[in-house]
Amino acid sequence: MSGARMPVTPEFGALLYVLARSSSARHIIEFGTSFGVSTIFLAAALRDNGGGRLVTTEFVAQKAASAAANLREAGLDDLVEIRVGDVMTTLAQDVPQPIDLILLDASKGLYLDILLLLEPRLRRGGIVVSDRADLDGSDGGRAGAYLAYLSNPANGYRMASITTEALGQSFAHDIAVRS
Ligand SMILES: C[S@@+](CC[C@H](N)C(=O)[O-])C[C@H]1O[C@@H](n2cnc3c(N)ncnc32)[C@H](O)[C@@H]1O
Repeated sequence: MSGARMPVTPEFGALLYVLARSSSARHIIEFGTSFGVSTIFLAAALRDNGGGRLVTTEFVAQKAASAAANLREAGLDDLVEIRVGDVMTTLAQDVPQPIDLILLDASKGLYLDILLLLEPRLRRGGIVVSDRADLDGSDGGRAGAYLAYLSNPANGYRMASITTEALGQSFAHDIAVRS
């Protein structure tokens, strides 16, 4: 899978842009850069919000290099820092705060761990968006625990789930706001 692009759908990308604009986001954290498609939607929103910082992370150095080139071509590279390596290390320190928006779009089983890692820096009214958490096994697996966490109002979130379509397939997305 090291060369696979796995980008967000165009509709979901457009939604990411709208979410980042409507929350006046200045600080965005992304798990899963790949070739940088979602990163471009989010960085474009930062640009239109007047600036900010997006920290994103990617395991595969070659993909990170392609994403960096795509961001340069889009004229958005000044807003984005790509950290190469495993998310549990790359996002463990020096994360801009308060965080306005988190996008989780990589290993589903890590979604809850990443959310808990970043949560102390996530502002009230901040948004957590994730892609395809439903793919983590029929019993929900670890991503099931992530969805259960966001669905429980006692944890301080309100969540909405939607699907978008691309190439004849449905893609599930979950969007939560911190109360
Ligand atoms: C679904 S793709 C991201 C697609 C991207 N958001 C887009 O719209 O173009 C997920 C990416 O996360 C990377 N990834 C998976 N597990 C990771 C980890 N533990 N740490 C960092 N990156 C990881 C994969 O190499 C893959 O490129």
